[in-house]
Amino acid sequence: MNFQTEKLGGHMAAAVSGVDLNHLPDAATQQALIDVLHDNLVLCIRDQHLKPPAFLDAMSRFGTPMLRKQLASTPECAEVNIISSEDRDVLGDGKKIVNGANWHTDDSFMREPCSLTMLYGVMVPSTGGDTQFTNMYAAYDDLPAGTRARIDPLKAIHKYSSSRKLSRISTRPADEMAAMPEATHPLVRTHPETRRGSLYLNPNRMEQIVGLDRTESNHLLDELIAHATQPKYQYRHVWRRGDIVIWDNRCTMHKANADYPEGERRLMHRVIVAGTEPF
Ligand code: SIN
Repeated sequence: MNFQTEKLGGHMAAAVSGVDLNHLPDAATQQALIDVLHDNLVLCIRDQHLKPPAFLDAMSRFGTPMLRKQLASTPECAEVNIISSEDRDVLGDGKKIVNGANWHTDDSFMREPCSLTMLYGVMVPSTGGDTQFTNMYAAYDDLPAGTRARIDPLKAIHKYSSSRKLSRISTRPADEMAAMPEATHPLVRTHPETRRGSLYLNPNRMEQIVGLDRTESNHLLDELIAHATQPKYQYRHVWRRGDIVIWDNRCTMHKANADYPEGERRLMHRVIVAGTEPF
């Protein structure tokens, strides 16, 4: 299968066209798609028309899909979650909730966070609703040598409901919250496939850096987050209906924007695939 590749951002993100994922790519094409993703951190596959089972099948070629109960799922496939303009905090105040409204990397409260996230634009608004990404390899590479030496050995505690969180998160049943894991991860991780180092931050889930007092930890986390989210490290994806955007959570952060016109629908199907413990 041949496909065309177009660079989207200056330093990250590429789109491919000429692929119909209703027909699973052969091994060479699949590897070529993975290579585009590794080189560009964010891969957009244009013009897809997929029912949830076909979306899940195609995404399982990139890894093992994981179940996540924090989000609603399609009736056909429990592993295909729904992110929608209709999302409400049903167990809490019932008000609209925007999943992923602040910078984050998916799943970092897990011991083995997902490696990739795939979001499929089933319905997209006429304007707005972009997803922003930031390049955590570049953010790490640009740090002064002294800062890199300081943070290289450090680890941070990540929690589902961190005291530092910036977004509202949907209310979960008490038993689920009690069982919700926390995890300790390095501030700088090595990508298991590219072997490159990147900052591993999650402003919404990081609680504290191990071995630093609260004030010192907050100061360093704030400094690193401000550095990593500078516009020069960002790419902003403007959605077209039928886009599948796949990003690598090991070397990027992302955030959703809910700035589209009232009454317009945004409906995304989401799959995440398994990852390893960060090192
Ligand atoms: C997410 O954070 O997973 C959702 C991103 C989006 O809806 O743009």
